[in-house]
Amino acid sequence: MKKALITGINGQDGSYLTEYLLSLGYEVHGIVRRHSVAENQNHRLVKYGTNNEAITHYGDLLDYPSLVRIVSKVMPDEIYNLGAMSHVRVSFDMPSFTIQTNALGVLNILEVYRTICPKAKFYQASSSEMFGNSVDSDGVQRLTTPMNPVSPYGCSKVMGYNLVRHYRHAYKLHACNGILFNHESPRRGTNFVTNKVVRGAVAIKKGIEDKLELGNMDSYRDWGHSKDYVRVMHMIINHDKPQEFIVATGKTHSVRNLCETVFGKLGLNYKDYVVQNPKFMRPEELKYLKGDSSKAREILGWKPEYTFSSMIDEMIERWDKEL
Ligand code: NAP
Ligand code: GDD
Repeated sequence: MKKALITGINGQDGSYLTEYLLSLGYEVHGIVRRHSVAENQNHRLVKYGTNNEAITHYGDLLDYPSLVRIVSKVMPDEIYNLGAMSHVRVSFDMPSFTIQTNALGVLNILEVYRTICPKAKFYQASSSEMFGNSVDSDGVQRLTTPMNPVSPYGCSKVMGYNLVRHYRHAYKLHACNGILFNHESPRRGTNFVTNKVVRGAVAIKKGIEDKLELGNMDSYRDWGHSKDYVRVMHMIINHDKPQEFIVATGKTHSVRNLCETVFGKLGLNYKDYVVQNPKFMRPEELKYLKGDSSKAREILGWKPEYTFSSMIDEMIERWDKEL
């Protein structure tokens, strides 16, 4: 039985990856952080039913001794480094914590991997936010597109990405990067725009709320489904040659179009309910994302099963039941 260790197991992707690896027969271990509300530390695992199967350990990417203790005990075959301060807007408010977790944290886990279990395989959750406002002349981002990050989060992810490449080359480790474009699901945090819009629209439809406050509605994102994207993490880490892959749908929508679609599915016009609040604007905005994932499709045989529309339907269903 193969053993996997997931940092960020309680996150959106961590919870789906846990289910996926359990379904493949893995022994799944994960790192959880201590929360003052104890229920929060493994909230998604409990809510979606894998808490009794996954084995969790208290730790933190910034607590090197905890990483040494956990990795020595588990001796994983595969390490998925998903733990991060993952909210771009919040990274402007907490730049130091973001950079410590997403850059120094990567260094910490790489060092522990290199010194304790160098035969294991390592996956780093890299991000399309690393490209910032670079777009190739044909309107897409690909592996050769320059990285010009426009947020503390994006800067921190570039550092993590480069450290993984450096450790692979310097120490001959099986360490790879998945550069994943935005991916969402009913499990997405409600302060990310897709789930915020879906939750808000359903609450308005049910008469619970009467308006939805958003920031910039003119940015474009390439939105896929987390469930499709955790499958490819496993494909990337298990490819013979450790390397970089972009994962994206190749389709892009504006935030405005997201609102039109979600409110439209509920028989509402978003213009009657959505108001802009400067509180949700960013000091610098990433305007446009559309990824070229042809390498992942050709080499790994990956393709997404969800469409933008079927993903929104699933998210609406969650909030329809829950509100
Ligand atoms: P998420 O839901 O925010 O989950 C992040 C996880 O990281 C949480 O479980 C969190 O713990 C944990 N974490 C935060 N700080 C930590 C620390 N110092 N030490 C250990 N764990 C820590 O994010 P996600 O959407 O699942 O994303 C997973 C990864 O993919 C992240 O690295 C993110 O940056 C990256 N990524 C995401 C996307 C996307 O669109 N979703 C796209 C590209 C890359 P708590 O549960 O205790 O808060
Ligand atoms: N969160 C949020 N809240 N975003 C809003 C809002 C709002 O009220 N109003 C407009 N937006 C716009 C943001 O300005 C951004 O242009 C877009 O909606 C998407 O924002 P998020 O859903 O917060 O995602 P993100 O693109 O900033 O970051 C996500 O994707 C990255 C990959 O490109 C995160 O998951 C990152 O962790 C990930 O790396």
